[in-house]
Amino acid sequence: MEMGLKNRVAIVAASSQGLGRATAEAFAAEGCRLAICARNQQALNAVAEKIRGEYKAEVLAEPFDVTDAGAVRDFVNAAVQKFGGIDICVTNAGGPPAKGFLATTIDEWKRAVDLNFMSAVYFTHAVIPHMQKKRWGRIITITSITTKQPVADLVYSNAVRAAVVGLVKSLANEFGKDGILVNNVGPGYTATDRLKELAHSRSVASGKTEKEIFEGWSADAPLKRLGDPRELADAIVWLASERASYITGQTILVDGGLYKGL
Ligand SMILES: NC(=O)c1ccc[n+]([C@@H]2O[C@H](COP(=O)([O-])OP(=O)(O)OC[C@H]3O[C@@H](n4cnc5c(N)ncnc54)[C@H](OP(=O)(O)O)[C@@H]3O)[C@@H](O)[C@H]2O)c1
Repeated sequence: MEMGLKNRVAIVAASSQGLGRATAEAFAAEGCRLAICARNQQALNAVAEKIRGEYKAEVLAEPFDVTDAGAVRDFVNAAVQKFGGIDICVTNAGGPPAKGFLATTIDEWKRAVDLNFMSAVYFTHAVIPHMQKKRWGRIITITSITTKQPVADLVYSNAVRAAVVGLVKSLANEFGKDGILVNNVGPGYTATDRLKELAHSRSVASGKTEKEIFEGWSADAPLKRLGDPRELADAIVWLASERASYITGQTILVDGGLYKGL
C-alpha cells in the first residue's frame, strides 16, 4: 500500500526506546525526515545514528524533557529551520507511576499532568501554525487503553489521559478546516521497558512473580499475547498517511482486543 509519506517531516516525541522509537523507525522506513527527542542524550544519539544508517533518513535529535514548554518550542523551531516545515507530530512521554488513589501525592498528580497532558499541549500549540501554513498536518497522541477502560492501580493514567482525548477532539474540530487531522492511539500491554517497570511494581504489590504478571496480561487479551511496539507504530504510520485521510477526532486502540466494551 502506498502511504504517500516520502519526504514528510515527522516529529516523534520521547523516542529513544519503546513505542516512540518503533514509531520513529516506522516513519523512517516510509522515507520521512525525522525529529526525535528524549532526555538521555547518549541513548537518543545511538537511535539517531541507527536510523540514519539503516534507513538513510535525515534525523534531528535533541535531548530535552517534554515537560519543558520552552524546550519543546525550540525543538519545533529547530525542526522547521532544518526541514522547512512540520507535517506530522506524534506526542509521547514516559508513563506515570502505578498507584491506587490513596497512595498518590499532590506533587505526583502535578507531574502526571505535566508529563502526560501538558506535554501534548506544548507540542500541538507549537506545530499547528506550521501545519496551517501547509494546509496539511497529522497529529497523533500516544496515550493508553486507559482512555477507554480504566486499569486498576493506574489512577494517574486513568484520569490524566482522558484530558488528552478532550484535547484531541477539540483540535480535530477546530483545525479540520485547515487539513489537519488529529487522532489518539491507545496501546494495550505492549512489550517495552515501561511494561517491565509495571510488572515489577505489580509484583511487589501482589506477591506474584513478574512472569505471572506478564502471563496474566497476555491471557487477558483475546489475541493471548503482548503487543509488539511495531504494531502500534504501524497503526500510527497508517493514521499519518494519505490512506487515512477521512479519519479525525478518533481514539484507536491497539490492544489485541483487550478493551471489553463495544
Ligand atoms: N508499553 C505499554 O504497554 C504501554 C501501554 C499503555 C500506555 N503506554 C504509554 O505509552 C508511553 C510510552 O511507553 P513505552 O512503553 O514506550 O515507554 P518506555 O519504554 O519507558 O520509553 C519511554 C521513552 O520516553 C522517553 N521519555 C520519558 N520521559 C520523558 C520526558 N519527560 N521527556 C522526554 N522524553 C521522555 C524515554 O527516554 P528518556 O528516559 O531518556 O527521556 C524513552 O525514550 C508511556 O506514556 C506509557 O505509559 C505504554
